[in-house]
Amino acid sequence: MRPRVLTSTLLSASRLYTTATSSATCRATHALIPSNLVKTCAPLTTRTFSTSSTRSNTPSTPSTPITMAASSATLLEAFKARRSFYQLNKELPIPKEKVTSIVQENLIQIPSSFNSQSNRVLVLYGAEHDKLWDITSEVLKPLVPAESWDATAARNAGFKAGAGTVLFFIDTTVVSGMQEKFALYKDRFPTWAEHSTAMLQFAAWTTLEAEGLGANLQHYNPLIDERVAAEWNIPAHWQLTAQLVFGGKAGEAGPKDALPLEQTFKVAGA
Ligand SMILES: Cc1cc2nc3c(=O)[nH]c(=O)nc-3n(C[C@H](O)[C@H](O)[C@H](O)COP(=O)(O)O)c2cc1C
Repeated sequence: MRPRVLTSTLLSASRLYTTATSSATCRATHALIPSNLVKTCAPLTTRTFSTSSTRSNTPSTPSTPITMAASSATLLEAFKARRSFYQLNKELPIPKEKVTSIVQENLIQIPSSFNSQSNRVLVLYGAEHDKLWDITSEVLKPLVPAESWDATAARNAGFKAGAGTVLFFIDTTVVSGMQEKFALYKDRFPTWAEHSTAMLQFAAWTTLEAEGLGANLQHYNPLIDERVAAEWNIPAHWQLTAQLVFGGKAGEAGPKDALPLEQTFKVAGA
């Protein structure tokens, strides 16, 4: 499966088939996909895009439209293909505008508890990406034992060698607003916001790699939070949760094992 098709699949069904402008795309797509998938397309043309009454009725759209096809097999193939790629370069296999649109589409589509939409994102390219990893080095230098510095510096140089970084945040005012509104679930909202940012991280990671990029997930928060906020004018209530470094692939992913399903999985019922 070509990477482009995989990403189209990952981002497709829910949006293109749910808006007025998408019905033509859906009809056109019928000609290109197997008939069993057309069944998925047709009923959804009558659905309206879900928004809360307090929000705009105009659905968000990414800056560049993405063409679509769909099946669970291609989704699972993309999940399998998502790996940690640490050897990266600055040669993106697709235009950076498309990277931006894919991240935007993920941000729009990823679920959140009560559709609270607590996720926030900053994407850095080029010199801004380099700056992030210079900042990280500066922050780490006084904290890392001298004898470990070479390894830390090499690791950071590996991240800087990539083409860009997606920074994921939780808007804590959304979380506290939900806690006030739904006191019964007060304790749960911070955890649910973490679930939602994790879903977004996984989706962005998977879809970018489906386009042929390599990526790896880092967690230099909270060490770098203040410097990031100051450098990119990030509101104090945006809490940094992870950094997804991406770029062209300059090496392969390492080996990975999996526990036997006997240890990790149960099923019940007829
Ligand atoms: C929640 C989470 C946190 C992670 N944090 C880091 C990290 O801080 N640095 C890192 O290099 N990799 C991190 N990883 C990547 C994992 O080490 C990696 O996904 C795992 O070893 C499986 O390898 P794979 O990504 O190639 O499938 C993280 C992954 C997850 C899911």
